Amino acid sequence: MEENLLITKIWHKQDIQKAATEIQAGQLVAFPTETVYGLGADATNNEAVQQVYLAKGRPSDNPLIVHLADKNEVQKYVTEIPAIAEKLMTAFWPGPLTLIFKANKAALAPLVTAGLDSVAIRMPDNQLTLDFIEACGVPLVGPSANTSGKPSPTTAEHVYHDLAGRIAGVLDDGETGVGLESTVVDVTNPEKLMILRPGAISQEILEEKLGIKVNVDQHLVNPEEQPKAPGMKYQHYSPNEPVVLIKNQEDWLAAINYYQEKGEKVGLLANKSILFLYQNKAVATYELGEAGDIDAAGQKLYAGLRYFAETSATIILAETFNQTGFGEAVMNRLEKAAGFYYFQKS
Ligand code: TXA
Ligand code: MG
Repeated sequence: MEENLLITKIWHKQDIQKAATEIQAGQLVAFPTETVYGLGADATNNEAVQQVYLAKGRPSDNPLIVHLADKNEVQKYVTEIPAIAEKLMTAFWPGPLTLIFKANKAALAPLVTAGLDSVAIRMPDNQLTLDFIEACGVPLVGPSANTSGKPSPTTAEHVYHDLAGRIAGVLDDGETGVGLESTVVDVTNPEKLMILRPGAISQEILEEKLGIKVNVDQHLVNPEEQPKAPGMKYQHYSPNEPVVLIKNQEDWLAAINYYQEKGEKVGLLANKSILFLYQNKAVATYELGEAGDIDAAGQKLYAGLRYFAETSATIILAETFNQTGFGEAVMNRLEKAAGFYYFQKS
């Protein structure tokens, strides 16, 4: 039997005070957000933050996002708030947007920023969690509450599956709405805003709101290069089975046949119309919503990637999407899950 295992509790709205007491005692509590579940700890307590890295198996050079319940708190943790950051906070907080500021390092546990001079901050759009942060009375770190490298959790059950025994509890607020992690935007150089991680607040939405060009870290696109957000360089979002991306509608049949001839048991991760055509050839399927519904695809993606572990599938064939708007974020996660592997007809 493993030693020192905690009994991980499942908490609801009425248990916020209990959960906050655990945080104040330096324990870890997972919380819901509009994007994915986060793994909460007191961002001013270095030992608590260290436990977050250990519980997730996260590389220690990958900094964490500080979660606040109030915009006015930002000034405590940064050295300056550029006007453009004010504008973004007013427009999109609470919401799925993380901003990178120059850090006031003295106000945060050193492990939060992992040695960088900048800090990531966001205000999540989930009332239970905003109340929870208030009750804690301290800012919370909140990396996605999954084992490092695995798909992020979009339900309390996913968190429990990955972290039971390692954390004090999970605040359960059902399925998350967005399904993919927040957009990360670097505002440390206001002249040149940079998207370090795509999310629901897309490049198009940001440019429309600000009336200026917003850049996307091109290193995100090329797997050989070093991205600016440290976390984007690691193996990510990977289910137990290999994922193969299907670019063209007409390749589905060829891909299914190809892998079946190699003795693989094929799982399909795709929209309703594709499943309608090919589900009789697969050992397992997970529906990403109606064809063309990119919001549904993003919301269901991580649950889908996790689902096949419970089936006999040995390989997952996945649908791909146009890389515009939210589609950019969906494809960023899918390409990483697949190690950028696309099926090619020989
Ligand atoms: O939606 C979200 O943002 C979720 C929920 C729980 O809030 N949290 C989340 O945290 O996705 P995490 O730790 O899984 O991802 C944080 C990302 C990583 O890619 C990390 O490298 C980057 O933000 N990051 C954090 N601090 C940074 C900094 N100072 N400069 C550049 N990138 C930073
Ligand atoms: Mg993560």
